[in-house]
Amino acid sequence: MKKIIHITSSTNGENSFSTRLGKAIIEKIQAQHPDSAIAKRDLIADPAPYISAEHVVAFFTPEDLHTVEMIESASYSKTAVDELLESDILVISAPLINLSIPAQLKSWIDHITRSGQTFRYSEAGPEGLVKGKKVFLALSGGAIYSEGMMKEYDNMVPYLKGILGFLGMTDITVYWAEGTAIPHLKETALERAIENIIIPQDLGVIA
Ligand SMILES: Cc1cc2nc3c(=O)[nH]c(=O)nc-3n(C[C@H](O)[C@H](O)[C@H](O)COP(=O)(O)O)c2cc1C
Repeated sequence: MKKIIHITSSTNGENSFSTRLGKAIIEKIQAQHPDSAIAKRDLIADPAPYISAEHVVAFFTPEDLHTVEMIESASYSKTAVDELLESDILVISAPLINLSIPAQLKSWIDHITRSGQTFRYSEAGPEGLVKGKKVFLALSGGAIYSEGMMKEYDNMVPYLKGILGFLGMTDITVYWAEGTAIPHLKETALERAIENIIIPQDLGVIA
């Protein structure tokens, strides 16, 4: 059984391009793996708190020394890290916001990027500890960023590939529903993105 986590970060609710694209990816995975279990993390309805001084103290204090306050401060992070480590497949839905990822998604990333839990440093350099995951990015932008003159302005794909790779998630497939602000493209942006979805039979690195 595949455990899928669908992370959404659009303020557009059910109409969201990136959320609908993520759902289409999951439907295609389910067609191949009908026993998949799906967990949802809606970062707009249930935002990850911005990292505060209390979070930092809790994150860098050994767990066996945690006070009740530190346990509380680290609780969102603990749930998010556990959920991540237990999953086989991540589907991250995100709109492009001011040339980058939504702040809510960045905040979730700040809670899952935990020294000693999801990455560590050794003499060989950094090592990601979140291994064996397949990641699909379901992205949306008003303009076209996957190619052409706007591509260099996209900080979303380079950043997500960078940070997820740093944590050990290197098997990443990107789909864009893009041109959603461009007449004659916006009407078919989602449909064209869904048509392109290919789910590998073995889902890449997943056993
Ligand atoms: C605050 C804000 C900032 C945005 N910034 C960009 C941007 O930098 N580039 C772009 O092409 N589209 C931008 N957009 C448009 C969205 O990326 C586009 O509408 C996308 O299709 C929304 O996806 P969603 O329906 O999943 O939220 C922005 C939208 C909002 C609300």
